[in-house]
Amino acid sequence: MKKICVLTGAGISAESGIKTFRDSDGLWEGHDVMEVASIDGWHKNPNLVLDFYNQRRAQLKEVKPNRAHEILAEWQDKYEVTIITQNVDNLHERAGSKNVIHLHGELLKVRSTKNPELVYDWTTDCNLGDLCENESQLRPDIVWFGEEVPLLELAASIVAECEILLIIGTSLVVYPAAQLMYYAPPFAEIIYIDKNPNQSIATNRKIKTIVGSASQCLSEIEAFI
Ligand code: APR
Repeated sequence: MKKICVLTGAGISAESGIKTFRDSDGLWEGHDVMEVASIDGWHKNPNLVLDFYNQRRAQLKEVKPNRAHEILAEWQDKYEVTIITQNVDNLHERAGSKNVIHLHGELLKVRSTKNPELVYDWTTDCNLGDLCENESQLRPDIVWFGEEVPLLELAASIVAECEILLIIGTSLVVYPAAQLMYYAPPFAEIIYIDKNPNQSIATNRKIKTIVGSASQCLSEIEAFI
């Protein structure tokens, strides 16, 4: 089976009603990214950060996977598909995708502030005073700006083995996720689907760029791969 690695960003969940980060109606409007999604922001105002992610977790119950998520799940019957997502939602899994790596963490998990190994499934609000089994404060299991990306090496090793790298709905401006494409082997085809693709990607690799919505482009793309 052909090995397809799919790197997804906020754009694939946009049609489900989750706002992207950097489009003009982006999620960060009204929220300074460094206040709600950085380790410094957490130290400065944990209540604000917890509240922000509580809202995101609640929103997840109101949305559902869209056709783009479904198509990727359907491909598992025909291809060896691994999804590396920058998204913290669970829409790939809810569409049926099995191999999903959450590079930037998961909304439905929290972890100990003291021990990153102590991770718990969490579907409701997380507040100050909610403690791990060792009595330390819990925090969203999200990779914030200023933090290491623990799954980066695993993700890079998967990209390094793929025959097709499909990049969907990401502005490719946040590192290290944006550098994952450089691990694709020379023979791999790189395809980039985005409504408004990043035009200034620094690479001499040939990238087939398809402009449009994730669901529309994915429904037409099988002819190419
Ligand atoms: N179909 C395809 N692409 C879309 C659609 C759509 N329906 N809607 C928006 N897009 C594209 C936009 O053109 C943009 O290029 O999705 C991209 C979203 O980019 P960002 O908002 O920057 O999101 P992303 O690239 O996932 O951000 C990366 O930044 O803030 C951090 O940790 C956060 O994981 C996030 C990371």
